[in-house]
Amino acid sequence: MGTKLIIDTDPGVDDAFALALATRSEDVDLLGVTTVFGNVPLSHTTANARRLLQLFGREDVPVAAGAERPLVYDNAKPAGFVHGQDGLSGHAGTLPEAKRALDERGAVRLLVDLLEAADEPVTIAPIGPLTNIALLLAAHPQIREKIGRIVIMGGGVTKGNSTTAAEFNIWSDPEAARRVLVDGDIPTVLVPLDITHQCSVDTTWLGKLAASGPLGAALEALTPTYVEHYTPILGFPGMVMHDAVAVAEAIRPGILDTESYPVDVECGFGPARGATLVDRRRLRSTDPQTVPGRTIDVALTTDVDAFRGFVLDRIVGGL
Ligand code: RIB
Ligand code: CA
Repeated sequence: MGTKLIIDTDPGVDDAFALALATRSEDVDLLGVTTVFGNVPLSHTTANARRLLQLFGREDVPVAAGAERPLVYDNAKPAGFVHGQDGLSGHAGTLPEAKRALDERGAVRLLVDLLEAADEPVTIAPIGPLTNIALLLAAHPQIREKIGRIVIMGGGVTKGNSTTAAEFNIWSDPEAARRVLVDGDIPTVLVPLDITHQCSVDTTWLGKLAASGPLGAALEALTPTYVEHYTPILGFPGMVMHDAVAVAEAIRPGILDTESYPVDVECGFGPARGATLVDRRRLRSTDPQTVPGRTIDVALTTDVDAFRGFVLDRIVGGL
């Protein structure tokens, strides 16, 4: 079997595409899904994750709910204006009811149990605020030996979205992001806005998905609010599948071109709170300037056409 994977998510329209990619890939052993507050409140992200797994025919995958708010400062704001108030363009109720009960262990306990039971290193793909992962690493430090890689959708080298400096997942809980990105020591790939925007898809691509069959049509039907939000940003009718870009790297290591850079997270309360500071100065170790943060892999480019084909083939091919 291929990649052993756990996804931590706040569905969210692009999260839905990331879950579709993972669940429809035969070379992925999706061990579990944990949910977190973010695009919409935890109650909605959890209900959406369960319904989406039902839609994708994956009742075998446990779902457990995690943090309903940031670690320390509760000043996160949901993004209903981007994803719809229910997180899925108002169409969450059209998805099938989940037959599998919510896993009562909660996100951190489910993560620990799945990781402890794994017979090979597990990839964790956080595609929402990093609160659950920070809690996991704080409460169970020894568990990091079971984690092969963390592939995070988050941050921005040259751009933000929640503010001009900060990307939503990091901005929603900067302290948690710093704990995972900077204070951790697990091999980590950051998949920032700079690459996710390169991988945007247009309505022609979405039309192919919709025409592929009932499941593709159901997935595409979740996009209207999200497409409406991104069309003026992109300059054409389309959307940015941020989370699918990170999950693509999680399940196909190397699909994204990465560079290693020191990364830090701004946790102050100025205008740059939540910014990811990616230090590209290439300072030598003997240089007097301080190099903040931890050196991690940062994804910056990819063959965009190949990426779009990979995602569509995986989602449609598995349907
Ligand atoms: O900034 C984009 C990220 O924030 C994506 O994960 C999206 O789903 C939201 O969580
Ligand atoms: Ca997300």
